[in-house]
Amino acid sequence: GKVAVLFGGDSAERDVSLRSGQAVLAALQAQGINAYGFDPAEQPLTGLVDQHFDRAFIVLHGRGGEDGTIQGALQYLGVPYTGSGVLGCALAMDKVRTKRVWQSTGLPVAQSAVIVRGKPVDWASMIEELGGKVMVKPAQEGSSIGMSPARNAAELEQAVALAHKYDQEALVESWLSGPEYTVSIVGDQALPAIRVQSTHEFYDYDAKYQAGDTQYHCPAGLCELEERALEQLAVSAFRAVGGKGWGRIDVMCDQEGNFKLLEANMVPGMTTKSLVPMAAKAVGMSFEQLVLRILELSEV
Ligand code: DAL
Ligand code: MG
Repeated sequence: GKVAVLFGGDSAERDVSLRSGQAVLAALQAQGINAYGFDPAEQPLTGLVDQHFDRAFIVLHGRGGEDGTIQGALQYLGVPYTGSGVLGCALAMDKVRTKRVWQSTGLPVAQSAVIVRGKPVDWASMIEELGGKVMVKPAQEGSSIGMSPARNAAELEQAVALAHKYDQEALVESWLSGPEYTVSIVGDQALPAIRVQSTHEFYDYDAKYQAGDTQYHCPAGLCELEERALEQLAVSAFRAVGGKGWGRIDVMCDQEGNFKLLEANMVPGMTTKSLVPMAAKAVGMSFEQLVLRILELSEV
């Protein structure tokens, strides 16, 4: 069949998606798949039907591509697609509601508060209640865009203002000391965890894609028991938000060494620096094999 690799789009993560998408497209073509790039920012999605595509490989990150919107449109058009469905994507894009689902399922998350744009806040007591240092995030973004730490009331107000540029809801989480782990999921299975060690105060956009000074450890350096527990946690977290096909769960340790779930990525990065390809390599799965497996998992 004919495969459309959907990339680009118009989210804040467009550049990352272009890089992920080109890598996926090249890998599919190298294996003889009849694949073409398709940028939803430049062509209407109905083009998929007009051009007789049989399947869509979604490599769109962030809003409009990873949030259920495209998934719903494709479903409506009758085009099968890779990865999670409408519900899973819509839920996972929203860190606030994802945390509520995890919490209610008994899965571990950091203590947090939500600030809605325009609502009055007692900054000083909020930061005190959350332990004196926090991380502030827009509810719906990716790649650390709009995120910043805060250590006092003034910084908190500033960090929330930044997050509110991207979303009307800001999530304020108690600071987690780390280490940070990420677990890739392909099919029903977790790949080995990766420990991410950033030299920056946190694993920000620059550390993710530009600086080249982030260290990735796979194996992650956990004992057998902890590794299994982390993988189990990731699979449970992925299922709890309706994940399907493939994805990545990000986890951070608190000071006592307890795992806390950060977020679910339903269309994780697939650039040459990205984490899912790195974890796949650790079990002997090449980038090409990984991409083909994800495509196969979209079988209807
Ligand atoms: N949001 C980016 C693409 C990631 O999770 O890899
Ligand atoms: Mg993300």
